[in-house]
Amino acid sequence: MITIDEEKCIGCGLCEKDCPAGKIRVREGRAVYRPECIQCGHCVAVCPRNAVSIPEYDMADVEEYDRDTFEVKPENFLHSVKFRRSIRNYQKRKLEKDCLERILDAGRYTATAKNSQKCRFIVLQEELDAFRQKLWDQVPAMADRIKEEMPHYAMMFKFLYRRHRDNPEDDGLFFNAPAMILIATDNPLDGGLAAANIENMAVAEGAGVLYCGYLMRIIEASPELKQWLGIPDTPIACCMLAGYPAVRYRRTAPRKKADIVWR
Ligand SMILES: Cc1cc2nc3c(=O)[nH]c(=O)nc-3n(C[C@H](O)[C@H](O)[C@H](O)COP(=O)(O)O)c2cc1C
Repeated sequence: MITIDEEKCIGCGLCEKDCPAGKIRVREGRAVYRPECIQCGHCVAVCPRNAVSIPEYDMADVEEYDRDTFEVKPENFLHSVKFRRSIRNYQKRKLEKDCLERILDAGRYTATAKNSQKCRFIVLQEELDAFRQKLWDQVPAMADRIKEEMPHYAMMFKFLYRRHRDNPEDDGLFFNAPAMILIATDNPLDGGLAAANIENMAVAEGAGVLYCGYLMRIIEASPELKQWLGIPDTPIACCMLAGYPAVRYRRTAPRKKADIVWR
């Protein structure tokens, strides 16, 4: 699972010290791996001689650390978090494939519990119109089905359906976004963390997203839609719309005071 190049290893012990599973020991001046681990890659990342590899991964993906070029200043990071907005007005322009790939990479590189990396990212752009139609067709029956259990949602879905039926341009579920990204995983926190990085990366690309809880609820309640998406048995952790904003925000939106306990 982990390969250590004996020629390169100098037995410095940095991998041993940083291995969360204690699976690497320095013996007779060389690092020795004892299976099995969660393949977190810390040993690869920390080695001063680039002596460690994990054959199961694409090692060509590994980049050298370059702080001078890529340093993120704290004030710039906070500025971008504060200026991120939920986007409900989109340009018609599609997101280019390479841009989407970079955005999804931000999700792929996000931490996951036990390094499971089990988020599935489903991107709908070419087939979004077909999916949108399929979903709207299901809304009236679904609203009827849930009206006892969740009357608030049932009323809201009926209201949105009527508005959309009377004016198809008025789409309070999809907001005429050119793309939709779903994250399916058994661990909701893994999915939520990936979603946050995806959103921040989308903003860095000049795009933006909207987390759409209503859409997620509808999809999650429809075995047919989940089958169509290829995730019949995996819960959806996040459903977001994505595209280039057709709106420009000039300042931050105000927030409540932080609820912090200092001790
Ligand atoms: C989990 C989650 C679900 C959301 N679902 C919806 C939704 O279904 N429809 C919608 O218009 N906005 C939705 N939003 C957006 C919130 O309303 C929005 O984040 C909030 O009003 C603050 O605005 P901002 O994101 O621009 O700062 C959702 C946000 C989150 C985090």
